[in-house]
Amino acid sequence: MAGETRGATAGWTAGEWRGWRAAAQEALYGEQGFYRRPEGPAGHFRTSVHASPLFAGAVARLLCRVDESLGRPASLGFVDMGAGRGELVTGVLAALPPEVAARARGYAVELADRPADLDHRVEWLAEPPGGVTGLLFANEWLDNVPVEVAEVDPAGVPRLVLVRPDGTERLGEPVTGAEAEWLARWWPLPPEAGTRAEIGLPRDTAWAAAGSTVDRGLAVAVDYAHTAGARPPFGTLTGFRAGRETAPVPDGSCDLTAHVALDACAGPGARLLTQRESLHALGVAGGRPPLSLASTDPAAYVRALAGAGEAAELTATGGLGDFGWLVEPRGIPDPLR
Ligand SMILES: C[S@@+](CC[C@H](N)C(=O)[O-])C[C@H]1O[C@@H](n2cnc3c(N)ncnc32)[C@H](O)[C@@H]1O
Repeated sequence: MAGETRGATAGWTAGEWRGWRAAAQEALYGEQGFYRRPEGPAGHFRTSVHASPLFAGAVARLLCRVDESLGRPASLGFVDMGAGRGELVTGVLAALPPEVAARARGYAVELADRPADLDHRVEWLAEPPGGVTGLLFANEWLDNVPVEVAEVDPAGVPRLVLVRPDGTERLGEPVTGAEAEWLARWWPLPPEAGTRAEIGLPRDTAWAAAGSTVDRGLAVAVDYAHTAGARPPFGTLTGFRAGRETAPVPDGSCDLTAHVALDACAGPGARLLTQRESLHALGVAGGRPPLSLASTDPAAYVRALAGAGEAAELTATGGLGDFGWLVEPRGIPDPLR
């Protein structure tokens, strides 16, 4: 229509207000949504998966530990939940010892289309397969599960934040029902105007559903996280486009992400670790190689130096190392203990 800007869908007009959950759902996953774009997430930001093959190697070792605990089943599942372009599952299958690889079945669970050049062994699904014996691993999935945003008004009442396709916000109705209960339990807001929270309820539900598809084995969610007592006072909703942080505008032009209240997602028997702790437990260390290697085997020295740099990035304080790993064993001992 002349003179009218459009949101991520033909049906969302410039003047229409929506809650952030519906707005982000359309902007990320609608027909013209951000995650439907051909370049995939790697075209806009770097996750641990893209930072270094050491990450897939560590996840492959974790899968081997799960395999041992399961008694080496005839079919060992690896589910890459929110798989992007299937980079992690591809790397994990490639890093497995041949005996384990021969029994492994790799699944990529993703809303976007299957990339044309993906390893034919990887099954591409829109939902997790049921009855998995093995490991389900969700790297930076939950932060992209859309949530409502609440903001405290001048009277001290938490209200839903509404948004238009251009990112303009206003306050809507007071938060009620299950969302109000979630806030009270997990992210109580002080009565100061302008303080904000992201209502993580849909993430708790999404994680419980994904985790329940593992019959025996392990479910792991890795993400930017915060826990009770250390919630960010104004929330963390933000945008990313082409490698840069941007204002969160729900028009399909950028990623929309908010850190995850991983403690609220935790199911029975779950444990919350940092990525630094988890990767150290899986043998990823950032130490420099001995200088003597430089003279005996210069090529190996250079390789080891590059590996040490990548390990340091994956475990860095103030960076990827601070990510949370929510680890939920199902019928096996915790393989990271
Ligand atoms: C930030 S990207 C992470 C990609 C990859 N795991 C990585 O670490 O590089 C999040 C991905 O989750 C996918 N996604 C979001 N919700 C999903 C759902 N309900 N089912 C399957 N995939 C989903 C998105 O399409 C997107 O590709």
